[in-house]
Parts: sequence; structure tokens; C-alpha cells
Amino acid sequence: MALKTDVLVIGSGIAGLFTALKVSEYADVILITKKNQSDSNTNYAQGGIASVIDTKDSFEKHIQDTMVAGAGLCNEKTVSILVHEGPDRIYDLIELGTNFTRKDGKLDLAKEGGHSMPRIVHARDFTGQEIERALIESVNAKSNITVIENTLAIDLLTEHNANDLKEATLNNRNCWGAYVLICNQNKVEKITSKATVLATGGLGQVYLHTTNPAIATGDGFAMAYRSGALLGNMEFIQFHPTSLYTSEKERDFHAPAFLISEAVRGFGGILRTQDGKEFMEKYDPRKELAPRDIVARAIDSELKRRGDEFVYLDITHKKKDEILEHFPNIYNTCLKYEIDISKDFIPVVPAAHYACGGIAVDENARTSLKGLYACGEVTMTGVHGANRLASNSLLEAVVFGYHAAADIKEFINNYKSKIPGIPEWDDSGTLSADEKVLITHSTKEVKQIMWDYVGIVRSNLRLERAAIRIHNIFMETENLYKKTKIFEDILELRNLVACAHMIIKSAQLRKESRGLHYTLDYPTADYISEPKDTLIRNTHT
Ligand code: FAD
Ligand code: SIN
Repeated sequence: MALKTDVLVIGSGIAGLFTALKVSEYADVILITKKNQSDSNTNYAQGGIASVIDTKDSFEKHIQDTMVAGAGLCNEKTVSILVHEGPDRIYDLIELGTNFTRKDGKLDLAKEGGHSMPRIVHARDFTGQEIERALIESVNAKSNITVIENTLAIDLLTEHNANDLKEATLNNRNCWGAYVLICNQNKVEKITSKATVLATGGLGQVYLHTTNPAIATGDGFAMAYRSGALLGNMEFIQFHPTSLYTSEKERDFHAPAFLISEAVRGFGGILRTQDGKEFMEKYDPRKELAPRDIVARAIDSELKRRGDEFVYLDITHKKKDEILEHFPNIYNTCLKYEIDISKDFIPVVPAAHYACGGIAVDENARTSLKGLYACGEVTMTGVHGANRLASNSLLEAVVFGYHAAADIKEFINNYKSKIPGIPEWDDSGTLSADEKVLITHSTKEVKQIMWDYVGIVRSNLRLERAAIRIHNIFMETENLYKKTKIFEDILELRNLVACAHMIIKSAQLRKESRGLHYTLDYPTADYISEPKDTLIRNTHT
């Protein structure tokens, strides 16, 4: 049962849902998502969505804060688009039914690290869940958006899948949809489309400790890489400074670490070592509200210096009713671990949180493959540079999702070519996996290697070790993939390995420390050459 549509959207987080809604104003959409509709990083977002709303704030200040956090690598043009169009997209979200927290009738604005003004629009401390709810309801009300859950995109359809077109060069490649696995039937189908939007979110699951849910296995980055699309700045992985510390026994290896929002520090939270001492003033005059890379490295350094497994975040000096008013989700979750945050310090550790790099796109969300668009966390739009400013991610997803939808309209209106014949999925000669333990082990190995060698602090030796080990796992996984009838876990492992490879390769290409990439071998930024993006492309496809 091959499916056909105008526009295929892959992913049901803020980027996919918002883009699908905008596209549905002029075309039919199939939206696929690998679990249920609300299984996304978006659903976990706490702090909020940054935008210039207050009359005392200005576009210039938001631009400046974004560029400072980005450590010299932001693209001024896309940052300007992000900031100037931000307020309109926030009002779009409100129109679509999102209930943001208000004070005296006005949007309540919180402050977070790196922001010079309070500008974080939020729904208490479950902003993502509220946005996701409103968008899903709007999508489900549209008759020309078909949502297909439990359907995992395996690979994009390009010239190398098409009958007779294998010779097309990397520079003029097209995308015509995707092969997808219908998970609960273990069946592969193809969906062809004039335009395809990758909105598959992040890759936090590459790391042992992450705030990202199990879906964040970097599928979009990996699919784009395998198709020969251009990606950039994959070395810039943001580690959130404060995820709740729990012992290994308390969670399985896919389960996310619970986030203690940056807004808690914005609200006055103080970081302390286990002996109760404050330490942030040693690292940055902005203390707890320095950008995330600085706070995460400061915590990492204190943990290494003292041999501790966590530091504390202290909010006990604030009134309980205020804590409950602002952070009901964090309060209740911590209580499950017997931590009453109005009385007890919260044990926290950094965890992999966000991919600042990704599929290279222009300001209209076009990738280097014709007909392939991307938006949300899977992209490199240039707005985050070497480090993302807090709460700029949800904003990026809606601003560039909006641009994607506008560009796709032109693209499909002028669509003259014919989608070529693409064969059905052929799995003859493959067998069902009888040793799934191999996949579980390899997945754990990838996560451990990346955490130990490609984490907050890197070095040439660590990266080299990681590269060799990941290469071995790559060879084993490809071998297994070719022989096995596919299922979710093997596809996700294959994607994790591809992402690990890209992160390591990009980290090796960057011979300096900048933003989120810190290496002992080049401890400062290269002040002599112009800052450059690290661009990578798979030329073996
Ligand atoms: P996602 O929301 O992750 O959605 C991706 C979708 O793609 C999912 O539906 C997934 O199932 C689907 N998918 C993935 N692979 C496939 C595949 N192969 N086939 C089919 N479907 C697939 N940012 C902020 O700006 N403010 C915040 O306050 C904030 N807080 C955060 C808190 C946490 C705990 C986390 C983890 C992130 C937070 N972020 C925040 C970051 C932000 O939430 C994400 O960057 C953003 O939600 C990404 O949206 P997205 O639509 O690109 O991806
Ligand atoms: C948080 O609430 O600290 C997360 C904000 C973000 O990732 O932008």
C-alpha cells in the first residue's frame, strides 16, 4: 500500500506540527511520527519560548544575547529573522489555543541564563506540553492532514533509490519522500511526495545521560547524512547544567534525566558543592545566570575537583507558595524522589540536552537536496552558532517552520517534474533478528563511549579513541542491518552510530575551543582566522 501526498512531514513535535498546519492551508499533508503524536522533545520543554514582548525589551537586545551565547558563529541574517518574527509566531501559537501563563492579563515573562531581559513566555513549568496539546488539537481538526502514528522513517527516497537514476551527483539530488516502517505490523512502505519536511528533533540519546526522551535517536540527522545532504556544526552538543541526579538503579538506560529548568536559576536558584559552598562566582561574574556552556563546565570542573557525583541547586530561600506557583511540575517530580525543593537542596548533574548543529538549511528551511526541507532541532539554521541561548529552540522551530511552509507553497506550485519509479522495499534474503542482545549492547556502548570521550571536555586522544570504537560498532551494525529483517531498535542503533560518527568527525575538525566545544588540546578560540562552521557530507552515497 504505497502512499502518495503533496507534502510529507516527518515528526510531531512543535516543528512538524506547526509546519504541517501552515502547509495544510494550501496542500494535503501526511504527517508520520514514530510513536504516538505527543512523544517528542517538545512535550518535555519546561522553561519556555523566548521573544521580545516587553516594551522595555528590544530586538537589538535579544539579537545581542543570542549572538553572545553563540560565541562568534551565529548567522546574523537568520538571528535577525528569528528575533524580529518571534512575537508574531508567539501570537500564532496563542491563536492556535496555547494558554501561556499571564499576570494581570499580560504574558508573564521569565528570565533565563544569557538573557539580559525577562523574555521567556511560558506555561508555568510545562510550556512544551501545553504547546504540543494545542498544536495536536489543531492538527487533528484539519481534514487534509493525515496523521500516521507508530511509523518510523527509515531512509529518504532520492536518486540512489530510484530505478535508472543511480548516477545523479550529490549536487543535484532530489528527495521524493521516504521508506517507512509501520512499527506494529513490521512492514515497510514507501510514501512519495513532492516535498518532504524532516522535523525529527534531537539526538540526546547518543549520550548516556540526557534530558531527551527515548525518541531522540537522531534519525533525521542520520537519514540526511546517508542521502548526501550537507550538515554542519555537529560538535556543538549542549549539556544542560542541571538535570536531576538519580542513581543508575533508578532508571533504565533510555529514560531521560529529569530537567530542573534554567528558570529555577532565573528565579534565584543557587548552585552549591556538596559541602554547601557557592562556586559560580569563581567561573563567571554572571554566576548562575551565565550561558549554559559556562555553567555546565563549571559544574563538571567542581565534580572532577572534588570527586563528587552531583552538586546541589538550592531554592530553599524562596517562599513555598511561589515555588509551587512557578514550578509545580518540578516540585511534584522531585517529591517522588523524596526531595521537597522548598526545604531540600536538589542534587543535579549536567546532561546532554540539545544539538546546536544539524542539517544545513537556508532561511527558507531548504536543505541541499531539492524537495527536502528541515526545521526544528534537526537543523543548522545558524541561529545558535556554537551555543544556543536558552528558550530559543522552540522559537526557531516555529519561525523557520513558517518559512518552510511559505517556500514549499511556491515549490509545489511550480512542480513540473515527475516523481520517478521507486521500487518497493526489498528484504528478500534477510532473517528475523534472533539475538537482540547484540543491539542492546551496542546501543549501551555507543552511549558510554560518547559520554566518556565526547562529552563536556574533549581532547584529541579521547576523540581518536571514540572514533575507532564507533567505527567498529558501525561495521558490526551495518553487517547486522544487511542480514536482518528490520525493526525499530536496529534502525535507531544505526542512526545513533551515524550521529556519533558525525559528532566525533566534526569535533576533530574543529582545532579550537569555542562555545560548547571545549578541548584540552586547543583550550582557547582561534582568534586569528574567521570563525567557520564545520560542514560535513557523506560522499560515499
Ligand atoms: P521534537 O519535539 O523532538 O519532535 C520530533 C518528532 O519527530 C517526534 O514526534 C518524534 O517521535 C519524531 N521522529 C523522530 N524520528 C522519527 C522517525 N525516524 N520517523 C518518524 N518520526 C520520527 N527549548 C526551548 O526553547 N525552551 C525550553 O524550555 C526547552 N526545554 C526543554 C526541556 C527538555 C527536557 C528538553 C529535552 C528540551 C527542551 N528544549 C527547550 C528544547 C526543545 O524542546 C526542542 O529542541 C524542541 O522541542 C524540538 O522540537 P522539534 O519539533 O524539532 O523536535
Ligand atoms: C530549561 O527550561 O532550562 C530548558 C530551556 C531550554 O532548553 O531552552
